[in-house]
Order: sequence, then structure tokens, then C-alpha cells
Amino acid sequence: MLPDWPAWSTTGITCERTMSGDIVVSLPIADWNGPFDPDLGRHAVAALEAGRVVCLTGLAFTTLPEEAVLLSPALLDNSRKNISFDPASGRVSGSAEHPALLAAMLARFARSAESMLRGLLIPYADTLWAGRTSFRPAEIAGRAYSPRHDDRRLHVDAFPSRPIGGARILRLFTVLPQASAARAWRIGEPFESVAAGFLPALPSPAPLRARLYALLGLTKGVQSAYDQMMLALHDRMKLDADYQRQASYTARTFSPGSTWLCFTDQVSHAALSGHMMLEQTFHVPVQSMLDPEQSPLRVLERLAGRALA
Ligand code: SIN
Ligand code: FE
Repeated sequence: MLPDWPAWSTTGITCERTMSGDIVVSLPIADWNGPFDPDLGRHAVAALEAGRVVCLTGLAFTTLPEEAVLLSPALLDNSRKNISFDPASGRVSGSAEHPALLAAMLARFARSAESMLRGLLIPYADTLWAGRTSFRPAEIAGRAYSPRHDDRRLHVDAFPSRPIGGARILRLFTVLPQASAARAWRIGEPFESVAAGFLPALPSPAPLRARLYALLGLTKGVQSAYDQMMLALHDRMKLDADYQRQASYTARTFSPGSTWLCFTDQVSHAALSGHMMLEQTFHVPVQSMLDPEQSPLRVLERLAGRALA
């Protein structure tokens, strides 16, 4: 159960009560550009830090007429599930089709997402940084994935080759209005319960291995003990068939033309079906949080009884 939510002081915010608490909070935001009501921003930050999903039901990312050719699973290179874009370098991977048009659309989405977050989430505005952008045009239901790569199983996010020290992973998702179906998610139990359940099964941190991986170029930088624990947690969750069968969750769909965000390193999630989605990853230093104690880093440190990053 997530901690109780205070009474709303701002109109237009709705909160979905489920068996496991008010996991999804909806904010009345329908424009990527601010200025945003500071009260909305404060509620968004508090909800995100408590492990809730913040839904912007009326916020759609609109494509240009000439971008219609991009809205097809045929764009994906063989066997790839995503097209990935690096906003810093402008490089696209995962598709060889229409490179300039694709890069322009993804850059515009990355800019919209970043400007929205900097305008809305004031405490993070100066310190958040953008990671990669991804475009997921293909239907995910019915595809074959290895268990570790199967995002249809409940998991928390961690990056195998890009260590982040102890920083947060904040992701913004939007289903394009042209999609013919909503994206169906499961939202699992709160992070502290997940972490406490799996902690005894997690391997001890291996600092020598972290240095070796960095030397060999397998990781971009040296993994912290926290990076290693989060990766192990991600893998153990996905590979544990009993856990996947028995864990409690809330089912939630996100309609075409809607946007949502959450700290995916904290919110246990699984994406069961859907297509034509865009996603932008951000990172936030734990020190910028209003309540750093709610971060996975601090939760794991409390449970493990030692510093991890
Ligand atoms: C994930 O981060 O697990 C993917 C979510 C999605 O594809 O909807
Ligand atoms: Fe994920």
C-alpha cells in the first residue's frame, strides 16, 4: 500500500482509488508548453516520488502530415522492438528508413517532453538531464522475447550498459493519437515491498567486475553497487515465474493521444499490449528530490544497511 495521499487543493486533479491505493494521479494538462500552475507541479512531484503514475490524459503528441510514413512497424530493422534516438548526437538506431524525417520527429518529441518536464517539475528543472528517446511502433502482444527482455513481465527499470550511479530514471510515455489500441500496463506493488522480498536473493556487489566491464567497454562507466543491485533486481523479478504469477498488480490502460510519466526504477510495471508509443527517458539526481528517502537508492541502503553509491 502506498502512503496515503493528502486532500487535493487544486481543482482538476483526479486520483484513481484501487485495491492497492491511489496509484494513478491524473493532471489536467493538455499542452506541452507552460507556464504550468505551480500547484499542479508540486502535486506531480509528490505523486511521482511516492511511486505513483502521473497521467496527462489530454496531452497528445501530434505528428506532421509528412510523418505519416513513419507510423508503421515496417520501419523497424529486423527483429528490433524499438527505434532508439540520442537527442544529444541526433543519431537514430533500429531503423534505416527515412532517417532525416525520423530524427526530426524524435527530436521534436524529445524537446517537447523536456520543456514540459522542466516547466512542470520545478524542483528538478535545473538538474534533470535527458537520456534516450524511443519509438515503439510495433504491437508488443504476441511477440517472442527472451524473459530478460520481456517487458510484459513485472519489473523495475535498470540499464545494463549505462550506469547511472544512484540517479533516478524518470520516463515519459505517449501513445500516438493514430494508434488503434490503448497501451495496457500492469502496475505492481510498491518498491519497498518488491525490494524487501527480493533482497535476500540478490548477489553481493562486485566492484572488480564493475571495473572490468568498464575497461572492456561493456558499460559506459563503472557500475555502482546500486547499479548492480538494480540490474539484479530487474532480472530476478522477470525470471521468477512464481513471482510473475502471484504478485499483486493494478491493470491500467493508456488511450491513444494520452501521456503518462513515472519513476520506472521505482514503479513495478509490465507492458502487455499496444503499439505506436513514444518514450523519453530522463534522469534526476537523488539530491534534487523533495524526499530522497523515497528513492530506490535510499530504500535499498536502508534494507541493506550500507551505502550503495
Ligand atoms: C518498459 O519500460 O517496461 C516498457 C513500457 C512500455 O513499453 O510500455
Ligand atoms: Fe520497464
